[in-house]
Amino acid sequence: MGFPKSNESIYAISPYIGGDVTPPGFVRRVVLASNENPYGPSDAVKQVVRQYADRIHCYPSGAANGLREAIGQTHGIDPAWLVTGNGSEDILHLLARAYVGKGDEVLIPQHGFGVYKIATLAMGGIPVEIPRVDFKLNVDAILERVTPRTKIFYLDHPGNPIAHYLTNTEIDDLLERMPSHVLVVFDSAYAEYMDNDDYHCGTKWVQRYPNVVMARSFSKAYGMANLRLGWLYAHPEIVDPISRIRPPFNTTGLSQAAGIAALGDQAWIDYCTQLNKKNLAKFVNDMNDLNIPMIPYTSNFVMAYFENTQEVYKYLGQKGLVVRPMGAYNLPSYLRITIGKQEEMQELVEVLKSCPHR
Ligand SMILES: Cc1ncc(COP(=O)(O)O)c(C=O)c1O
Repeated sequence: MGFPKSNESIYAISPYIGGDVTPPGFVRRVVLASNENPYGPSDAVKQVVRQYADRIHCYPSGAANGLREAIGQTHGIDPAWLVTGNGSEDILHLLARAYVGKGDEVLIPQHGFGVYKIATLAMGGIPVEIPRVDFKLNVDAILERVTPRTKIFYLDHPGNPIAHYLTNTEIDDLLERMPSHVLVVFDSAYAEYMDNDDYHCGTKWVQRYPNVVMARSFSKAYGMANLRLGWLYAHPEIVDPISRIRPPFNTTGLSQAAGIAALGDQAWIDYCTQLNKKNLAKFVNDMNDLNIPMIPYTSNFVMAYFENTQEVYKYLGQKGLVVRPMGAYNLPSYLRITIGKQEEMQELVEVLKSCPHR
């Protein structure tokens, strides 16, 4: 008896490995493995979630009208240019489904977020890796790899697990020279954490270039990873095909209502991102004191290098501190550590001090 075969390219996909992996002997007490906001969402969001029980028998607004209005107001952009998704990964997949066919090429930064490759291969596309030098992307290296078959360039902005980003000047240069048949996708999942002068989330380029779009997430600074909510900002010509293929109810009414509440409490985002900045600076100092090398960091995590990475990972896990090994990103000597609460980072530093494998 033979089974029906899925599309051939799907077998080239390595399933996504998330931060929920708990090897034997691990204690999930302090989880610093998925770049979540350790302070969670705003109280306004929690209240909406508690009160939503009476409405779960009703279908949500398929087009998420209220939420798109609220996003539009918060960011000063037109709701007609927005599509919401089941997390921003849904948006990344929808773009591939709409724009990538068999044999088409998709540019993906080396060590780029895993979903780019999965979304590409799922459509029979060919992932084309953009090499990094010293963990940095370079505009020429990107443009050199564009061919008539290139359909999408997924730009992690800033990246995960490599936190590098192209500066405003570099992006201006890139977009002036990028052929218009390539859809440039700014994946700005960590944008709320960025206050660097040479960084911009991408909205201004979406408005200027018809081939530029931006994906955003409620999973990081907004503290709503479990509610699965993200959005796309794109010209209506691009919103159109995405809206045709989008599962009609890809965001729940609960997540839409929570998203509206979250957007209404920007003070919470400021509070959390400021705390993150403080905790990050302190942690980086402590790591430097311990002589543990790190890849340049910027948002809410660091990538730390260890000689005996697996042993350190296990030692931490057994002490109740779960971080993320990076073998799946071809960075087997690194552990990605999310910036948690100050006391959590302090505990991690103490455990690292006592770690015999460091
Ligand atoms: C760079 C990047 N993009 C997108 C996502 C997806 O986020 P979500 O689907 O939870 O919105 C993540 C999550 O880890 C990420 O790190």
